[in-house]
Amino acid sequence: MMIVNQILQTKGHDVWAISPDTPVVEALQVMAQKRIGALLVMEEGQVQGIFSERDYARKVVLEGRSATDTPVGEIMTAKVFYVRPDNTVEDCMAIMTEKRIRHLPVFAGDHLVGVISIGDVVKAMISDREFMIEQLVNYIEGRRSAVVI
Ligand SMILES: NC(=O)c1ccc[n+]([C@@H]2O[C@H](COP(=O)([O-])OP(=O)(O)OC[C@H]3O[C@@H](n4cnc5c(N)ncnc54)[C@H](O)[C@@H]3O)[C@@H](O)[C@H]2O)c1
Repeated sequence: MMIVNQILQTKGHDVWAISPDTPVVEALQVMAQKRIGALLVMEEGQVQGIFSERDYARKVVLEGRSATDTPVGEIMTAKVFYVRPDNTVEDCMAIMTEKRIRHLPVFAGDHLVGVISIGDVVKAMISDREFMIEQLVNYIEGRRSAVVI
């Protein structure tokens, strides 16, 4: 079963983050530029929260706030769940499903070493399944040819 570290080896260890005083509109510009759906909110190297497209939709658009005047720190999600590099993709999916979140920072000890998304997890689960199917097909075909010979 694939683990978080293997996902990071493929997708990289980049962490896109902003400070809590960044105006929402600037955070959205960064998200659009990087083609991502969430940014970690960090201050002095510490994770303070996470800001996602959902935070924007629910707490800015629906509550009639200004994206220019509202700092991300005011509307971010302060409770951040995280995983470790040796957690499995199934662990990640369980947390994402139970907590209804789509992004998880990865901490190795106290060090932030990456971020994974629900898209990364689904992709890893599909590739795990494909590998298993390939092994089963090889096994079945191997047995068949053993019988023919
Ligand atoms: N991630 C994939 O490999 C992938 C593959 C196929 C389709 N999709 C689709 O794209 C849509 C959204 O994708 P998503 O769930 O991956 O979310 P996303 O758009 O936020 O993430 C895109 C990529 O950027 C990375 N990323 C996001 N925020 C980051 C941050 N703050 N710091 C560092 N890296 C960050 C993610 O880990 C992921 O690899 C979904 O509809 C999904 O099904 C994603």
